[in-house]
Amino acid sequence: MKTLVIGANGQIGRQFCALAAERNLPIRAMIRDRGQIPAFREIGVETVTADLESDFRQAYEGCEQVIFTAGSGPHTGPDKTLLVDLHGAIRASDLADELGLARFTMVSALRAEHPLQAPERLRPYMAAKHAADGYLRRGRTPYVILKPGRLTDEPPSGRITTDPDSVAHNHISRGNVARILLAVAGNGGLRNAEYRILDGDMPIDTVFG
Ligand SMILES: NC(=O)c1ccc[n+]([C@@H]2O[C@H](COP(=O)([O-])OP(=O)(O)OC[C@H]3O[C@@H](n4cnc5c(N)ncnc54)[C@H](OP(=O)(O)O)[C@@H]3O)[C@@H](O)[C@H]2O)c1
Repeated sequence: MKTLVIGANGQIGRQFCALAAERNLPIRAMIRDRGQIPAFREIGVETVTADLESDFRQAYEGCEQVIFTAGSGPHTGPDKTLLVDLHGAIRASDLADELGLARFTMVSALRAEHPLQAPERLRPYMAAKHAADGYLRRGRTPYVILKPGRLTDEPPSGRITTDPDSVAHNHISRGNVARILLAVAGNGGLRNAEYRILDGDMPIDTVFG
């Protein structure tokens, strides 16, 4: 099942693409900047250049599932949160519905459903993620929603928990999220499921394999 990776040049996206390429999983990396093409070509990953703020329909051609790990990031304002994290995600979900895709995997955020409990600067982002998750749930496309806590650049442990109450921290490495995406991409049977994910004790494959 060929996977379109939206946000492929991001820190999670790049790690996921490298892992998928090692395992010969068919993927297409959606990137914004043609200058990013050589890095993907080097690892044997096909690219398509498109932007969530314009028409990106052509990026879906020949793909059967989507991984959405794009985000406007911490260095832009609520305008980009609205256009990328909310409207971009909604349009990506709409295209998946329209084209009859087999699955849409969303990298959301832990506790996105409680935006008013987040630090003030994160509230618009959490509200956008919550609304985009709800839109995806109500669509026709089977979905997987992953809700990671604070992302770190620690080396991936390969071990996680889906029960945030069982640990006394709030973080997960980007490498672990990339490995979870790999397990999900390879497990076509996973549908209409949501997971809160933090670093923990459980091997990723025992949860998602
Ligand atoms: N930071 C946290 O603690 C945290 C916690 C929970 C969830 N998350 C979610 O996890 C996601 C992935 O994390 P990350 O660290 O990999 O993020 P990242 O490195 O900031 O990557 C985000 C990617 O989205 C792409 N992007 C931004 N605007 C776009 C647009 N208009 N069209 C297409 N692509 C666009 C960026 O493209 P360029 O490479 O061209 O800039 C980048 O490749 C985040 O976006 C966030 O929603 C983050």
